[in-house]
Amino acid sequence: MFEEAQYLAPVTRRADGGVEVELSRSHPGFADDEYRERRNHIAELALNHTRGDPIPEVEYTDEEHEVWRRVSRELTVSHAQYAVADYLEGTARLGLPTDRIPQLEEVGSALRPLTSFRYLPAAGLVPLRDFYGSLADSYFHATQYIRHHSVPLYTPEPDVVHEVIGHANMLAADRFADLYRVAGEAARRVETRDALEFVSKVFWFTLEFGVMREDGALKAYGAGILSSYGEIREFRTVDIRRLDLLAMGTMQYDITHYQDILYAADSMTHLEDLVGTFWATCTDDSIAALTATTKTP
Ligand SMILES: [Fe+2]
Repeated sequence: MFEEAQYLAPVTRRADGGVEVELSRSHPGFADDEYRERRNHIAELALNHTRGDPIPEVEYTDEEHEVWRRVSRELTVSHAQYAVADYLEGTARLGLPTDRIPQLEEVGSALRPLTSFRYLPAAGLVPLRDFYGSLADSYFHATQYIRHHSVPLYTPEPDVVHEVIGHANMLAADRFADLYRVAGEAARRVETRDALEFVSKVFWFTLEFGVMREDGALKAYGAGILSSYGEIREFRTVDIRRLDLLAMGTMQYDITHYQDILYAADSMTHLEDLVGTFWATCTDDSIAALTATTKTP
């Protein structure tokens, strides 16, 4: 999100008032009419939602719950080995169900007493400024659909597995929740498109795809890694660099492939001191000054 918004399937209202989620031909559910109908229905629920009302319940099918069970089982094993301590602590505090897909309303109700975070349903693309601005108010926009059952360990777009297993477990941990909030405050403070993109790219390389050294081992904390069966096995093999605001904020990356460069924090404190402080204090001018150093006169 962040640029995640760009790889969500576009959602449009048809002339007859119905909602259409456009899936690409390469999407695993492209030729499955029943799945397409589900996606349209779930997107419509989100489009019709008004902030402040309870999040509409999605009646998931047994097949969809089975996808959740399978992915939860696989990811839990990987998390024990590769997730940072704060994420595991958030996981223990939140206690997400592993036998069924939880409703977003239910996840939000469990999160709120822990860190004040709640969920808002997203039909598809959420503009960057809305997505980040809501974080400042402790709201997290999330999709409710689940990936296609034919490939339970793969999704070309962020589904409820990513939004909940990836993000909610982080949002249940105090130190991560604070980082999400200051990222939101930064997005709200800056006015130029360039500065907003810089803020969102730093988010991408930290809260989405961040890794961290912990007790001599390289662990992951980014929701994009911790919700991906494939990426969680690969992240230690890619080009790992030390946290660097300018490099992260100006990196061009391809969201359709595994990340081939990741940025490692030395510790949680290092992440907070460098990235948390940046988000807490950055302005259009400070970001322009930072990026000016990379431009030749
Ligand atoms: Fe995400």
